[in-house]
Amino acid sequence: MTGRDGAVTGTPPAQPDGAPSRSAAVLAAAHGTPGFLDQREGMALFAAAEVAAQRGLGPLVEIGAYLGRSTLFLAAGLIAALEHGAPPSILLSIDHHRGSEEMQAGWEHHDATLVDPATGRMDSLPRFRANLWRAGAEDIVAAVVGDSARVAAALSGPVGMVFIDGGHGANVAWADYRGWTPRLAPGGLLAIHDVFPDPADGGRPPYECYCAALDSGEFDELEDARTLSLRVLTRRRVPRAPQRASR
Ligand SMILES: C[S@@+](CC[C@H](N)C(=O)[O-])C[C@H]1O[C@@H](n2cnc3c(N)ncnc32)[C@H](O)[C@@H]1O
Repeated sequence: MTGRDGAVTGTPPAQPDGAPSRSAAVLAAAHGTPGFLDQREGMALFAAAEVAAQRGLGPLVEIGAYLGRSTLFLAAGLIAALEHGAPPSILLSIDHHRGSEEMQAGWEHHDATLVDPATGRMDSLPRFRANLWRAGAEDIVAAVVGDSARVAAALSGPVGMVFIDGGHGANVAWADYRGWTPRLAPGGLLAIHDVFPDPADGGRPPYECYCAALDSGEFDELEDARTLSLRVLTRRRVPRAPQRASR
């Protein structure tokens, strides 16, 4: 949530009868959904989605949904904005649901219960759908099942927010960055997960994409939103001269 000064408060409203609002219910579901996002990062994402939806610049886009944890934080933020009169919008959640490299058999984040016995391949889509349905968020989230870069190439029009948390290998991460960031409307938000300045903490591509965004002169970071490995930037209305930004 944002206060009058635009600061993040992170407290969804209750309804007059004291019952939790819809955004609060979806937020509670997000907290209970398994995935790869710390709950503090989830709250920062929730607040960013609310800000982006309030700006009314276009749909919100998520790359990398897995079981829907980040999806539900984003959806709760979007719903909170709608509860406060934001223009109608939707969250496009893109994932091929075949898992990233580190989720395949034999790798660190493999979950054998997600293997489809019919194909022998990872398939997170059924549990993603079940989690959205349980949270009551199916109407606000449009799931796009496919390769994120191909989807970017096939869709047109400006978007109000892009959250990048898909493949973390260099080719995929850069394809997401290059395919989606030009689509952000001025004032739109770019969120990137797993940004690790210290290589000892994790892979480089998300950090390098974040640096490229700052260095381009087209983005400013929302310093207040910086949470663990999550970074949120806003697209400038007027680019500044490209420069090496401090970080
Ligand atoms: C780190 S997980 C996302 C975690 C999720 N955001 C959460 O909150 O738990 C990365 C996801 O990106 C998806 N993915 C990887 N490469 C992709 C690509 N090229 N196109 C679409 N989805 C991709 C994987 O299937 C996986 O579900």
